Amino acid sequence: MQNHIHTEFHRFLQRQDKENLLRQRGIVVWLCGLSGSGKSTIANAAERILHQQGRFSVIVDGDNIRSGLNANLSFTQEDRFENIRRISEVAKLFVAQGVITFVSAITPNGAMRDVARGIIGEDFFEVYIKASFATCEQRDVKGLYAKAAKGEIPNFTGKDSGFEEPMQADLILNTEENDLTDCVDQLLQAIASRIAFA
Ligand code: ADX
Repeated sequence: MQNHIHTEFHRFLQRQDKENLLRQRGIVVWLCGLSGSGKSTIANAAERILHQQGRFSVIVDGDNIRSGLNANLSFTQEDRFENIRRISEVAKLFVAQGVITFVSAITPNGAMRDVARGIIGEDFFEVYIKASFATCEQRDVKGLYAKAAKGEIPNFTGKDSGFEEPMQADLILNTEENDLTDCVDQLLQAIASRIAFA
């Protein structure tokens, strides 16, 4: 910790107080996978169902955060690490308020996922949104794969910047083999006991 910083966490209302109010328990559902694999789509659909069920959630989305808090970061390995570190700290703030926190970020390396896991701790629930580069390229929802093929996007994930498949995901959702409803069902079932108010 930096010198002359005296954190106030202990004096503030505690997580349990917030969770009692919300009648739910917080979790960080970290969705990683290639661009176009379905991370944001799944997070968006899952939070709408939770919302209808009276659950309070937030989506911390890589593209959104990169348009604000992380607007000064590029896609070099170094900046991706910093992107993930900041996103993890934001997620940690939310989960400490008892909020069901979805993170949607490529998080291409095991070491980056370790950073997130290290910052967030036992609230970290890693979900690999699995779809091959070829499939994402075919979907090309944002038109980025076409641009990358023309050499217009440096360090594009899966092309000239690597993606390591997660080895310790808590859940794998294969969006090539399962439709959106199936994936969201699987996700909500997997976290049901973690968010239930005891
Ligand atoms: S991460 O690698 O640092 O986790 P993050 O999820 O925040 O990435 O941002 C990925 C999003 O940025 C993609 O969904 C895409 O819209 C956009 N993007 C822009 N440039 C790149 C690039 N070089 N590689 C991957 N995604 C990129």
